[in-house]
Amino acid sequence: MTVDNALAQVETNGFVDVLVDPSLDLFEEIRKLKKEKNAVILAHYYQEPDIQDIADYIGDSLGLAQNAAGTEADMIVFAGVHFMAETAKILNPSKKVILPDLKAGCSLSDSCPPPLFKAFKDKHPDHLVISYINCSSGIKALSDIICTSSNAQQIVESLPVDQKIIFAPDKNLGGYINKKTGRSMLLWNGACMVHELFSLEKITRLKLRHPEAKLLAHPECEEPILRIADFIGSTTQILKYSQADTASTYIVATETGILHQMQKNAPNKTFIAAPPDNACACNDCPHMKLNTLEKIYLAMKYELPEIKMDENIRLAAKKPIDRMLKLSRQFGLV
Ligand code: 13P
Ligand code: SF4
Repeated sequence: MTVDNALAQVETNGFVDVLVDPSLDLFEEIRKLKKEKNAVILAHYYQEPDIQDIADYIGDSLGLAQNAAGTEADMIVFAGVHFMAETAKILNPSKKVILPDLKAGCSLSDSCPPPLFKAFKDKHPDHLVISYINCSSGIKALSDIICTSSNAQQIVESLPVDQKIIFAPDKNLGGYINKKTGRSMLLWNGACMVHELFSLEKITRLKLRHPEAKLLAHPECEEPILRIADFIGSTTQILKYSQADTASTYIVATETGILHQMQKNAPNKTFIAAPPDNACACNDCPHMKLNTLEKIYLAMKYELPEIKMDENIRLAAKKPIDRMLKLSRQFGLV
């Protein structure tokens, strides 16, 4: 196969089975490529530790969107999943946005296909649509405001109490916000495959074994887990809480990638990944964990695979994201 043919395949398949010279110091190579190409690496907390360590910015979905909107770099390398890289492209169409593995999707985003959602929305013409950022550009284009787990409550509370609202796609986050705000938003029946896995029974047993431990949970978790949590928040909020709080031990009910920063920021504290209800006791996100240092190196070197999108969808999807960014500035979430 010619190099051109191989690179053309990367556009659809990503860097599958490509061997990288094992003698290369990938940290050094990636650093060189960053300089050479004026590139920035934005990483989510669910990435593997090496990727977090090489990133220029690590954050939750709001922080990543804000950073993508303001970057001066020519190339944005997104160490995260597709909807995050797509959001960066929506906000920054003139930049090259690279996602090291195009197959890094999101079960929550997949649970809300635009044609089905459009039919649902059409049945409720008097409702305003708030969509969690974990959705495709097609869903964003059908929405009035985007939110993340760190600003969802404030965004809902900024609307008149009698405003009818559809909340999509996460029923768990939506249910949590309904409870916090006393609203009764109509919820799309979507969920995250990682956050739905936590076992109430195993967490309860773990709490009995570690009575000093506090349970930190992401609002994508199901209601029974949220009910027993000591703190609920976005990844950044959970991280900040674990640093500022005085407890010595925490059970963490979100994807395990976050433990790397928690442990780095509070080396004397103990962080235990909350046990899921599966045989392998694994709560890694299979999409997030598709990214590797090798793929990041190759993606930066060949500037592939690149996020591309229809301009009409991009413009329609940008409006509700801009609204979220404006509201977040008003709330002081910068
Ligand atoms: P946040 O980092 O915004 O809390 O989102 C978590 C998540 O599931 C991202 O996919
Ligand atoms: Fe999607 Fe869940 Fe993975 Fe986040 S952790 S990317 S919501 S599947």
